[in-house]
Amino acid sequence: MRKNIVAGNWKMNTTVPEGVKLAEDVNAAVNAAGELKCDVVVGVPFTHLTAVKAVLDGGKVGLAAENCAAKASGAYTGEVSAAMVASTGAQYVILGHSERREYFCESNEMLKEKVDLALANGLKVIFCCGESLELREAGNYADFIAAEISESLFHLTAEQWANIVIAYEPIWAIGTGKTATSDQAQEVHAMIRKLIAGKYGEKLADDTTILYGGSCKPSNAPELFAKPDIDGGLIGGASLKAADFMGIVTAF
Ligand code: 13P
Repeated sequence: MRKNIVAGNWKMNTTVPEGVKLAEDVNAAVNAAGELKCDVVVGVPFTHLTAVKAVLDGGKVGLAAENCAAKASGAYTGEVSAAMVASTGAQYVILGHSERREYFCESNEMLKEKVDLALANGLKVIFCCGESLELREAGNYADFIAAEISESLFHLTAEQWANIVIAYEPIWAIGTGKTATSDQAQEVHAMIRKLIAGKYGEKLADDTTILYGGSCKPSNAPELFAKPDIDGGLIGGASLKAADFMGIVTAF
């Protein structure tokens, strides 16, 4: 069955004490909210994983890293492996964020390696895709997104696919305050689901969670989440304030 998920991506924000405080606030709010219509996940910097896990332990909030290495282990100074991430108790890793693709030269091929290592270590992958403004305006964003997904994920078995969550994040909507309209997002989400159905069949496509990310906030989340193929959000800026994040969590 398809799950609704609202996941925060804190990016490179908060010190460890600030992050622990934010996690405490989110955890308390989620526990106080009673029955929610979505799973809640916080994506935090590597340095925060263990401390945040201690705050979330026993609670309902899942934990994600924002990246992992494309190598299993060894002489890669400064890198953090999927096994290291899993050993903190995190259940998820965000891979392929456009900021990593752009600033750290992550290719579809490299992301394929990361995905394999994440899955081999028992992590679920929140796999990001999405087009630039140039591609959107040129009108050929569908092919670009299809290549991002197929080149990094379509080697997986159907069984492995059960641990993949897709996040559609149009680059032009990230941190710009310019949200995709719910119709624009729905169009791409439906296209992604059709692409998955073509490869893995209708049932698996229907069971796949597809999140929207890009200037999602409490005021626009209800309209986005009401669309049939939008199963939640990957939230940047608005995940840094517990009240705003909860405003999105409760939008379902
Ligand atoms: P904003 O919500 O700040 O636009 O960021 C979205 C994002 O990049 C989540 O991964």
